Amino acid sequence: MYSLLKPILFRQDAEWSHDFTLTWLKRTQHNLLSSVYRQQLPSKPVNVMGLTFDNPLGLAAGLDKNGECIDAFAAMGFGFIEIGTVTPRPQAGNDKPRLFRLPQAEAIINRMGFNNKGVDYLVEQVKQSSYQGVLGINIGKNKVTPEEQALDDYLICLDKVYAHASYVTVNISSPNTPGLRNLQYGDALENLLAGLKARQAELAQQHGKYVPVVVKIAPDLTDEEIQSIAASLTKSQMDGVIATNTTLDRSKVQGLPHCDEAGGLSGAVLTDKSQDVCEKLVKALDGAMPVIGVGGIYSADTAKQRLAGGAQLIQLYSSLIYLGPGLIKTIVKGL
Ligand SMILES: Cc1cc2nc3c(=O)[nH]c(=O)nc-3n(C[C@H](O)[C@H](O)[C@H](O)COP(=O)(O)O)c2cc1C
Repeated sequence: MYSLLKPILFRQDAEWSHDFTLTWLKRTQHNLLSSVYRQQLPSKPVNVMGLTFDNPLGLAAGLDKNGECIDAFAAMGFGFIEIGTVTPRPQAGNDKPRLFRLPQAEAIINRMGFNNKGVDYLVEQVKQSSYQGVLGINIGKNKVTPEEQALDDYLICLDKVYAHASYVTVNISSPNTPGLRNLQYGDALENLLAGLKARQAELAQQHGKYVPVVVKIAPDLTDEEIQSIAASLTKSQMDGVIATNTTLDRSKVQGLPHCDEAGGLSGAVLTDKSQDVCEKLVKALDGAMPVIGVGGIYSADTAKQRLAGGAQLIQLYSSLIYLGPGLIKTIVKGL
């Protein structure tokens, strides 16, 4: 089915195709048309962070930023779904065009800039979904919020999503919000994590449930930076880490149309870099917390390689655009 649809979608502007597809998924997810993408997958449950995942393959953040298609992605067979990044207030994101396909490399460049309808809207969508599986909610800061006040934005989101999430992801690695990646280093990171951990403890008491909080990091880190981040995450007793977000590195797409567009690069060209960061992080963490591997996973082999490298869970985004929902079944069957 996707092989028929893909050439039509790929003839259109990338963001138009994205919006069209999400609108269609939203409209069909609760009716019979959902049988077009519904798949039965073998059950391969894993327990991580105190949660039971139907299988270790999840949808990465950014595809369903507002949580409008949770039941549709669940029907495709993902073992968990991460929605967001969501910010306290709605925001339009960067000017268009801001999403580019690089088909020769099975890659994507995006500089969306956290376009989303705000955390209140997202929570309403979660309430309307019938999904019972593991739901991650990925939170960020509004563009206009100064870097020094970033914690306030993360806390607003954490408060609002806590009751509705299986786990919460703190996104400090998008290249498209100025200054955001600075939160990955030194005192800025430790202060942020301390603030989040303190609030998590209060919320756990208040709601009578412990919701794990994980941090999502960039792939563009030196070995020393990976060590230092691992030490801070361990010290702060975070529950997990997602590696990686998109890269600024263009070395693997030199000469291709759109290669010089600003933003984060994802897809098959990210496989090696994300694998490398994942393995170094696993080593540096030495079992202190689980790593969720993401970046350039596009086959059963690349999925198995990430798990063999020490990731306990994996996610994908770009390969779903290039290969369609059938890929989810291929990967999970192949694990
Ligand atoms: C168009 C687009 C938008 C994205 N938006 C987000 C986002 O809002 N938050 C986030 O944490 N990651 C976001 N990502 C990053 C993905 O979640 C993922 O980490 C990255 O694309 C690498 O995985 P992939 O190679 O499987 O795509 C986005 C990726 C793409 C392609």
